[in-house]
Amino acid sequence: MKTFVIGISGVTNGGKTTLAKKLQKHLPNCSVISQDDFFKPQSEIETDTNGFLQYDVLEALNMEKMMSAISRWMESPRHSPVSTDSGSTEEIPILIIEGFLLYNYKPLDALWNRSYFLTIPYEECKRRRSTRVYEPPDVPGYFDGHVWPMYLKHRQEIENITWEIMYLDGTKSEEDLFSQVYEELKQELTKHKCKCRGW
Ligand SMILES: Nc1ncnc2c1ncn2[C@@H]1O[C@H](COP(=O)(O)OP(=O)(O)OP(=O)(O)O)[C@@H](O)[C@H]1O
Ligand SMILES: [Mg+2]
Repeated sequence: MKTFVIGISGVTNGGKTTLAKKLQKHLPNCSVISQDDFFKPQSEIETDTNGFLQYDVLEALNMEKMMSAISRWMESPRHSPVSTDSGSTEEIPILIIEGFLLYNYKPLDALWNRSYFLTIPYEECKRRRSTRVYEPPDVPGYFDGHVWPMYLKHRQEIENITWEIMYLDGTKSEEDLFSQVYEELKQELTKHKCKCRGW
């Protein structure tokens, strides 16, 4: 069965989850898998010499479990338990995978029909992050001592990837970001459907 898989990655607090949920509401037959749901328990998270828990790395995630969730969706995209949208049977099933470390994880490389990456500047990122409460909560110095340096490292790693990533300015309003991506996706989906039908 043909599917269409969208990646929404980017910096912490860039607006990945917000954008993914909004798209899901407007795209037919659309499921979302969030990488945030696959963090290992705190007891399995490494600590660096400064005492910072190493959450913003691939090793902190149970990626095998996330891959299983993706495989399950692929096998039965229309009946996925993660889908909240009953959808139309005529529409190509869409999966949005959203998370901060998608394009650095090789087993996902062949999956993407469209890849987005949200960016916001350091100051805005730090400001937004300070308004959130994570579990466990960020300790003083955590943003500058772990979160931002890891983001820069991962961002550099994806500069050499071979497929196209569309970078999005996360300082735009939620509405503007949604419209930009939604319009673009509608076109991509039309092209994809034509290809699938051999037109
Ligand atoms: N376009 C936007 N403009 C301003 N604020 C936004 C925008 N999109 C999301 N936000 C706000 O930024 C914060 C982070 O949003 P969201 O949870 O969607 O980001 P995220 O990239 O999924 O973050 P995380 O790293 O926690 O997974 C929230 O407080 C949200 O309300
Ligand atoms: Mg999120």
